[in-house]
Amino acid sequence: MEPRPPPAKRPSAQTAPRRDPLLDGERPDGVIADIMGRPQPDARMIIVANEKGGVGKSTIAFHLCTALADAGLKVAAIDLDRRQQTLSRVLQNRDSAARRLDTALPIPRQINRQVPSGSVLCQEVGRIGWDANVIVINAAGYDSPIARRAIALADARVTPVNNPFIDLDVLEHSHPVPLDITGPGCFSATVGIQP
Ligand SMILES: Nc1ncnc2c1ncn2[C@@H]1O[C@H](COP(=O)(O)OP(=O)(O)O)[C@@H](O)[C@H]1O
Ligand SMILES: [Mg+2]
Repeated sequence: MEPRPPPAKRPSAQTAPRRDPLLDGERPDGVIADIMGRPQPDARMIIVANEKGGVGKSTIAFHLCTALADAGLKVAAIDLDRRQQTLSRVLQNRDSAARRLDTALPIPRQINRQVPSGSVLCQEVGRIGWDANVIVINAAGYDSPIARRAIALADARVTPVNNPFIDLDVLEHSHPVPLDITGPGCFSATVGIQP
């Protein structure tokens, strides 16, 4: 009986091509080219984003939406946090309360929480952007292809931050003593800001 051939060598960690699942299909140059190739919507886009959770993103997005609507602008809201859906839920609750109380409250005209991918996000922005002055996007507290696409699409980004060092670390790395900034944190590196 012939001896079994040795099993094929698996590529080692050093030789295997590196794949970043967060970037697959959403490489920065491809995203920018795709965005630039699409018609630009009339609406201005503001994204509230930070990879850290619990820093007040959804709260700010909510107040931004309602304040802009109160100022008479046509506002659309997109909630990218598909798990918590804080912004969607608070706006829907506000709408329900206004109907129940038979009162008019400033509320965004459109609330969209069905955005599963970066390309669908672009389509949605194109669809709702023609009839809105402002689109407010609420990001989830983690990195993802869709978050990167949304940040690239936005005209303005608001990044709330809490002041403990563990919150600041996603924005800047600093030496423990004497607190000199030593480099960007993961979120700053992603969005290309220098601390
Ligand atoms: N300006 C603020 N002052 C005090 N508490 C706040 C403020 N903004 C948000 N919060 C509270 O912080 C918590 C997290 O807010 P949230 O908007 O859900 O954060 P994120 O969307 O970043 O996870 C909530 O309990 C919220 O009520
Ligand atoms: Mg949130």
